[in-house]
Amino acid sequence: MKSLVGRVADAVRAAMEGEGSGHDWWHVWRVWRLADRLAKTEPRADRTVVALGALLHDLGDWKFHGGDEEAAPREAGRLLKRLGAAPAVIARVQAVCREVSYKGAGVADRPTSLETKVVQDADRLDAIGAIGVARTFAYGGAKSRSMYEPGEKPVLHRTFAAYKKSRGHTINHFHEKLLLLRDRMHTRGARRIAAKRHRFLVTFLERFHREWDGKD
Ligand code: ADP
Ligand code: NI
Repeated sequence: MKSLVGRVADAVRAAMEGEGSGHDWWHVWRVWRLADRLAKTEPRADRTVVALGALLHDLGDWKFHGGDEEAAPREAGRLLKRLGAAPAVIARVQAVCREVSYKGAGVADRPTSLETKVVQDADRLDAIGAIGVARTFAYGGAKSRSMYEPGEKPVLHRTFAAYKKSRGHTINHFHEKLLLLRDRMHTRGARRIAAKRHRFLVTFLERFHREWDGKD
C-alpha cells in the first residue's frame, strides 16, 4: 500500500488541481520538495511531519475560507484522520498548518516547532523569486486587484486583522510582504536560497518602475 505521505499527496492534488490564484497543487508540490530539501540539512526535523505539513498547509487557507484561521488545521486534521494517521502526528501537522501563514509586516512569527520553521521557510521561498512574482500577479488577478496605483503607498500592517482586510494593489504586496521575507527565514539553507530569489525581486521592481515611466 502507498505510504501515508503518498496518499495525502494524492488527496491534496485532487482537491487543489487547477486553482487559479497561485495556491494550486503545483505550489504545494514545490513547497513539499523545498521543505524536504531543507529538512535534509536539519537533522532534528521529523521528515514525515514536514512532508505532511507542506502538503496540507494551504488546504484550508484563511484567504479562501472567509478569514477563518482554524480552517487550515481543521481541514488537515479531517483528511489525516480519514487516512488513518496517528493522533500525535495529526496534532503536530495541525500545529504547522496553524502557524505557517504570514500575518503582516509588524506581526512576529511564532513557530513552536522546527517542522513549522522548515515548512514556513519553504512556503516563503515559493513566495519570492520568479515564481513569487508570477504567483503574486496571479493572486492579484484572481482577486481583481489593480497591478499598480502610483498614488497608493504600502502599509506595514501591525496586526493580522489589518493585514487580512488589506485590498491594495499588487506592487504594494511586494513591500508589505515579499521583500520582508528574506530576513524572516529560520534555516540556514533557506537563507541562502532566499538571498538569490530576493535579488530577483529587486531587479524585477526596478525594471517594472523603469518601464512604467516609459524608459527602455
Ligand atoms: P501565506 O500563508 O504566508 O499567506 P501562501 O502560500 O498562502 O502564504 O501564499 C501567499 C501568496 O499569495 C503571496 O506570497 C502572494 O503571492 C499571494 N498573495 C497573497 N496576498 C496577496 C495580495 N494582497 N496581493 C497579491 N498577492 C497576494
Ligand atoms: Ni502556501
